[in-house]
Amino acid sequence: MKGKDFLSITDLEPDEVALMVQRARHIKETETPRPLEGKVLALIFEKPSLRTRVSFEVGIRQMGGECIYLSNADIGLGTREPEIDVARVLDRLVDGIVARVFSHRSLEILAENTTIPVINALSDLAHPCQALGDLLTINESKGNLEGLNVTYVGDGNNIASSLALACSSVGANFTISAPGDYHVPSIAWDEARRRAAQKESLLDWVEKPQDAVKSADVVYTDVWISMGDEAEADERRRVFAEYQVNTELMGLAKSDAVFMHDMPAHRGEEVSDEMFDHPKSVVFHQAENRLHAQKAVMAELFSR
Ligand code: NVA
Repeated sequence: MKGKDFLSITDLEPDEVALMVQRARHIKETETPRPLEGKVLALIFEKPSLRTRVSFEVGIRQMGGECIYLSNADIGLGTREPEIDVARVLDRLVDGIVARVFSHRSLEILAENTTIPVINALSDLAHPCQALGDLLTINESKGNLEGLNVTYVGDGNNIASSLALACSSVGANFTISAPGDYHVPSIAWDEARRRAAQKESLLDWVEKPQDAVKSADVVYTDVWISMGDEAEADERRRVFAEYQVNTELMGLAKSDAVFMHDMPAHRGEEVSDEMFDHPKSVVFHQAENRLHAQKAVMAELFSR
């Protein structure tokens, strides 16, 4: 890890991404280290959460620590008081911060104004813990990562950005199929391109989903309307109407391809009911693997 925080996949050198996945797998298969003994972490959640909150709370406890959940109503990050003051206070009182925020900048302010680790539990730009758990799931499902074809169909959002960075870091080929205006932001895409070049893997954007999923080992999708995008809901449903992952689209991928979704899923929008519950769907493995991936991250940050 480059610094004390984990805000983005780019906080890991490309080779460290594969090592983190290995570490997560090792923890899953053997035992949980306890570097959080005697430590207390603050969990700041500006947005709702099921998987992230539960997997962090369970992981922290299993690693020997305790946590305090702080909703936006409790602290009003950036509204009741500025992020910088929240950071300075928590720095005196707790041993680490896990934060889910609307603006990625809030995470950076927390990180810049603390001496303790800050972990990104989802921002508008990135969801790196999800991407690490997803690599673990892909590795378990397909037996390797390097050279695999991962196709993401849908919005070029936080999930797509972190997945592009994670795949390119481990030498997996990453293709996104999204309408032109909904591509992954260049801050993530340009770095993913650099990482892919270093690993001699491919990074591609293919507008038509039917073309993008050909020869895919993994087909991944996420909601069209992320938390914070609600005002654009109608427009997004219209723009993405042709981007649903269903059994027909999945039929164009490799015959042993797996389907992935970070959840919550909007069945009938980005994914059909039938596809979500299909034997090719590994979505609940993904949900479980959040726990193991986050333990690996916390073991790295709190064992120094
Ligand atoms: N892109 C989604 C992911 C939810 C885990 C969102 O930001 O709402």
